[in-house]
Amino acid sequence: MDTTTGKEISIDLGTTTTIVSYTKKKSGKLTQLKYSGEKLIPSVLFFRSESEWDIGKNALAGMAIHPLAGVANFKSHLSDPEYRYEMTAVNGDHFCLKPHEATKRFLMKIVKNMEDALLKEFGAMGGTIDRAVITVPAKFPVVAKGRTKKAARDCGLDVKLTSEPTAAATDYLQSYTEFDRPGAVIMVYDFGGGTFDVSIVQRQPNNLKEIATGGDNSLSGNLLTDRVVQYLIKRIEERYAIQFPKDADELDDLDSEEIDEYRSNMAEIWRNANHMKEILSGENESERDLQLIIKGKPKVFGAYLSREDFEDMIRPDINRTVDIVQQTLKKASEKGINRVDVVVMA
Ligand SMILES: Nc1ncnc2c1ncn2[C@@H]1O[C@H](COP(=O)(O)OP(=O)(O)OP(=O)(O)O)[C@@H](O)[C@H]1O
Ligand SMILES: [Mg+2]
Repeated sequence: MDTTTGKEISIDLGTTTTIVSYTKKKSGKLTQLKYSGEKLIPSVLFFRSESEWDIGKNALAGMAIHPLAGVANFKSHLSDPEYRYEMTAVNGDHFCLKPHEATKRFLMKIVKNMEDALLKEFGAMGGTIDRAVITVPAKFPVVAKGRTKKAARDCGLDVKLTSEPTAAATDYLQSYTEFDRPGAVIMVYDFGGGTFDVSIVQRQPNNLKEIATGGDNSLSGNLLTDRVVQYLIKRIEERYAIQFPKDADELDDLDSEEIDEYRSNMAEIWRNANHMKEILSGENESERDLQLIIKGKPKVFGAYLSREDFEDMIRPDINRTVDIVQQTLKKASEKGINRVDVVVMA
């Protein structure tokens, strides 16, 4: 492929949020590109039909109304060969979507939209985007890396993968230059939507060297949301004297209307649980009205959670991140690095 004519973008392809950047040739400065006016692009897809879809904040808004037409968290399922999304688009199209196909459809929109953005900025010089650097977690499974690459190649991109913590440290050093000196040791603590990564990197004369990494691909913001989901399910089951299916076998026993009811309730519970979790970062209490369908009838369930109860729920998860940090510090120490100059919370 001729890589000299097109442009290159960097994609922080997050489980929940994606950021796309472009390095300006003259200044060498990294600029974030917007999708639908936003730099933080929700990593979700929303299907009006099988062949017509949107991503980002508009997709997120659509999913709140038509949960069965939406896809979220596709990055988390990239290494699972069996995983399929059962889609019902707004127009009634039924189809299955594999996570790497969702990734490809997401990236297609990114590339098309960002080409338009570059065209606006540079006019005829905008050109096509034919290369991308995509960040992946330090502990991303090999098969998930392969599927990410394939999804990008299927969009016509020549792609390179790079480690998320190293990219975060590079980004940090551009703004906080006092640590941008050979020998400086940076710890990146990245508690993301889908993975937890910790990485100790050291600035070398010309690059960053990864000294030690640790992480857990199931410890994440989504896991904390799931803790709230489990709490809400319990309260809902008590209130309406019902039982949600506990596994795939129990789900199989439901008829198609009950499955649709269950899936739309779960989407409503998940969306609100996530919101309540985020509110509790700044407030001591959170309250939401959930629009549920119970045995075919609409019900409004008033959900409440205090910060204290939430912190009790997630304490073991947060303690686990502390254990992983300590193990990673030990690994670095075995390589002769016994100090950290700065901790970056990514
Ligand atoms: N104010 C907040 N309080 C608590 N959690 C928040 C807040 N804002 C966002 N989050 C959570 O942070 C997570 C997203 O973080 P981030 O954008 O770093 O992840 P990501 O890059 O999409 O995922 P990953 O890097 O794991 O693939 C989500 O779980 C989201 O709910
Ligand atoms: Mg991330």
